[in-house]
Amino acid sequence: MTAEVPSDAGSSGAAHKLQNLKKIFNPKSVAIVGASSEPGKIGYQILNNVIQNGFKGKVYPINKKAPEILGVKCYPNLAECPTDVDFAVIAVPAPMVEGVLKECGEKKVKGAVIITSGFSEIGRKKEEQALKDIADKYDIALFGPNTFGFVYTPSNLNASFGPQNVSPGKVAFISQSGALGISLMGWTMMEKIGLAAVVSLGNKVDIGEKELIEYFNDDPNVRVILIYMEGIKDGRQFMTTKVKKPIVIIKSGTSTRGAQAAASHTGSLSGSDSIYSAAFNQLGMIRTRTFSQAFATASILSLPEPKGEDTLIITNGGGIGVNATDECEEFGVKLIDDQTWLEEKFRPSMPEYGSTKNPIDVTGGGGKEGYKKAVRVALAEDRIHAVVVLYCETAVLDPVDVAKLIIDEYNAVKRNKPLIVTMVGGERSRQAIQTLNENQIPAMAEVRQAAIGLKALYNWKDISSRSKEKVKIPEAPAKALEVIERVRKEGRTFLLEHESREVLEACGVPMPKWGFATTADEAAGMAEKSQMYPVAMKIASVDIIHKSDVGGVILNIKNAEEMRAKFFQMMETVKKNAPKAKILGVNLCQMVDGVQCIVGMNKDPQFGPAVMFGMGGVLVEILKDVSFRIVPFSEGDAQRLVGEIKAKKLLDGYRGQGAHKESIIKTLMAVQKIAEHVKEVDINPLITNVAGSYAVDARIII
Ligand code: ACO
Repeated sequence: MTAEVPSDAGSSGAAHKLQNLKKIFNPKSVAIVGASSEPGKIGYQILNNVIQNGFKGKVYPINKKAPEILGVKCYPNLAECPTDVDFAVIAVPAPMVEGVLKECGEKKVKGAVIITSGFSEIGRKKEEQALKDIADKYDIALFGPNTFGFVYTPSNLNASFGPQNVSPGKVAFISQSGALGISLMGWTMMEKIGLAAVVSLGNKVDIGEKELIEYFNDDPNVRVILIYMEGIKDGRQFMTTKVKKPIVIIKSGTSTRGAQAAASHTGSLSGSDSIYSAAFNQLGMIRTRTFSQAFATASILSLPEPKGEDTLIITNGGGIGVNATDECEEFGVKLIDDQTWLEEKFRPSMPEYGSTKNPIDVTGGGGKEGYKKAVRVALAEDRIHAVVVLYCETAVLDPVDVAKLIIDEYNAVKRNKPLIVTMVGGERSRQAIQTLNENQIPAMAEVRQAAIGLKALYNWKDISSRSKEKVKIPEAPAKALEVIERVRKEGRTFLLEHESREVLEACGVPMPKWGFATTADEAAGMAEKSQMYPVAMKIASVDIIHKSDVGGVILNIKNAEEMRAKFFQMMETVKKNAPKAKILGVNLCQMVDGVQCIVGMNKDPQFGPAVMFGMGGVLVEILKDVSFRIVPFSEGDAQRLVGEIKAKKLLDGYRGQGAHKESIIKTLMAVQKIAEHVKEVDINPLITNVAGSYAVDARIII
């Protein structure tokens, strides 16, 4: 899962910066440079948040004039602070930031957050780079510039100008957008969703997602990482991120307009969205489309690890039960369905007319006792690996009472398995959801969110085991490099078909029988000798790109006699249609039947070479059923890539069709070998049948 590509993280990726992050999140002393006595100023708000949030360490407001602010003694500069300063928040106007950061270095401050705006986001890249140089020189872990700061609930530290009193929890929320980060912080507080950290990354001159993820990997206070991302500056470096904990990601800029807005917003470029999806997928990160889904999924991923995938649903209403069943089926959540066993275990918890089929329907008349008994049994039985409790608000039973009994039952068994609640109703249901969230039981108003989150929780075990998969930097064979070099020396930017075949064959791409001939006799002899018939014959010329347009493709040649005749016919037609073209000969290729796929490789500006797989032939344009992996990737990744396309049923052997997955995977692994040496590879189609896969057409651009 983690690629062994050389990291270009520079000193920002160095281990000691991660050590310094520890000081930022758990400081003994904090300085606020730019603290002000004016409540309208950001420097005042940050100091106020640090004090109000109950931070237990030393607080040093730095202000040149004021003797004290909010009852705390001020110092005119960092040098005069009476003790070491672990961490500094910098909220002074942009021209002063560089000087203050140098003062931090001289005071041996370990980490700093620059709140100040007015750097790369408005084109001042040089000024921003100067901050990075100082941070590296003095070994300071640096957040920002252009951030709203951060909150870390385990240290009671709110070093931000966002809202106060964030509820504690196990989710670390990293936001690239400041304003959105602040708003979502407010929203999580309203919904009582607990957070371990909220970090605004700003312009990420030093510390970015990768460094923070790797820091939180080893932070016992964090169980899940949630990231709001607009774009990443260095996709290659991002692909080296070690993922040890579940990561939920919302990446905006999926639309062309959205991507443009993101680029101007943060100064970072947004790569093609499908490449981002591929990157997240490959790293085992879970991408969600909406904020509420992201927080719901993150909360569910904070639950105890399930021992299996047998899920039980408890409900008081048939309608919502059916809805839940549909959602579970759509997202692949398995419901336990041993009817006899369910009847035996759950009948005592419900009236005669209740259903013991999963969903267990305690009915509207089941009341508090009915719910309590059903939840107790579901939590006690080892055969049930996760429980989803649904509640439709009725006048008979107060949702807040249902929430409380669920909390009591869950705590009584020490949160022994995943438990999720969905409540549908009015104001009381909303309060009940908040009560549950406050007690770190994921609760929501949509069953769909529960199903998506639960599937992510079930998948996590498989994802986390991927870290054992080996990813080696693929090496190009000498023969392939020789051909590429020869073409380059000739001043060409593309390889002819037979040259592409030579390169790909040397890499290990499976080929049908093929050959290159310059005369009719040579073509006939070659096809005869290697028993190639029926054969496709294609013209070879550096001057002809669209071969069929000039009569340069003839299919299904059955024997030597036909081969000779068709050879002369082709030469004549092509000479007539393209009189200036220099003809080198013909490519011969055995005709093969099977499912048409496509394998390609091209280069993304952020992530570098990416290999594509999908349905080929005409379908590639219409269905666009393709998926990607970033080079280098493991064999496991190649397998998952093949399993990802929508038409995967065709490859599983639908209606007599069949595929040879091993050779498809071999092709994907082989293409990686030349990814660094060429610009584009196109194998369209790669025809696959039960016997094997064959690169029927191949094109390489250098
Ligand atoms: N050392 C110590 N104190 C200093 C220094 C220094 N070198 N230089 C200035 N100060 C003091 C000032 O005297 C002032 O204190 P005072 O009120 O007692 O006089 C205080 O620092 C602040 O300086 P001001 O000049 O008053 O600046 P102001 O507070 O108006 O703005 C700020 C500073 C907030 C950093 C501003 O430049 C800025 O960048 N604002 C945008 C911040 C932002 O939005 N960040 C992105 C967040 S993410 C999002 O989108 C929400």
